[in-house]
Amino acid sequence: MIRVEGLVKSFAKQRVLDEVDLQVKDGEILVILGESGSGKSVLLRHLIGLEVPDQGKVFIKDVDITVLPESKLLKVRRDIGYLFQDGALYDFMSVEENVAFPLLEHTKISEKEAYQKVHELLEMVGLSSAKTKLPSELSGGMRKRAALARAVVLGSKIVLCDEPTSGLDPIKSREISDLIKEVSRRFKSTMVITSHDMMNAFRIADRLVLLKNGKIRIEGSPRDLKESKDSFLQEFLTDQYS
Ligand SMILES: Nc1ncnc2c1ncn2[C@@H]1O[C@H](COP(=O)(O)OP(=O)(O)OP(=O)(O)O)[C@@H](O)[C@H]1O
Ligand SMILES: [Mg+2]
Repeated sequence: MIRVEGLVKSFAKQRVLDEVDLQVKDGEILVILGESGSGKSVLLRHLIGLEVPDQGKVFIKDVDITVLPESKLLKVRRDIGYLFQDGALYDFMSVEENVAFPLLEHTKISEKEAYQKVHELLEMVGLSSAKTKLPSELSGGMRKRAALARAVVLGSKIVLCDEPTSGLDPIKSREISDLIKEVSRRFKSTMVITSHDMMNAFRIADRLVLLKNGKIRIEGSPRDLKESKDSFLQEFLTDQYS
């Protein structure tokens, strides 16, 4: 579904990604771990063509998106749900309008059908009673849930989430993580998630990768990582729990 080959990206003299290879299988939840500044968001942005690599390829369903003209890239992008780290909801639209926006903008379904779908999704993410509120009237956790609903409303087969739990308390983090898992099961979507939140990353991931110095230091199932003797990984895990 997603394949990254030899990805290299530098900003000025700083090589952020240094020949990264990555594959994400159909229906899989892959979590990208790494210290702050290790390039998780930069890697995620390459997956929807928001960054152009210095070298390497990014295949989405066997199409190399790094060489697509803008018009075709927009089409690919439209098929991918993206949850931005800060939610990035439209301030001037209510929750339901925000979630309905991709449907009304990109599909031909009627407004009535669109809102029916939106209301089902809002029910699923527990925001039915807040549907007419503005983003500024929501808590951080509610904003994340609204953003998740918007990221998946088109039924995208690929959903990318940048730090879906950052800034949330442990209970809310767990809730949104469970929601992500539920969404992935329900829509059979392939998900790539960046996270600092080890507890939930290990709970929901099918596979994890750890970025270090621009490379994938280690990858595997939650069990593989827990059993790994890799010194940096152990240090990373200890730091997270201390
Ligand atoms: N547009 C840009 N211009 C210059 N440098 C950038 C740009 N985007 C990212 N960087 C640099 O690339 C490095 C990786 O950034 P990135 O945002 O991917 O880190 P991250 O792993 O997502 O960190 P965090 O966990 O804090 O979100 C950082 O050193 C950052 O300063
Ligand atoms: Mg980031």
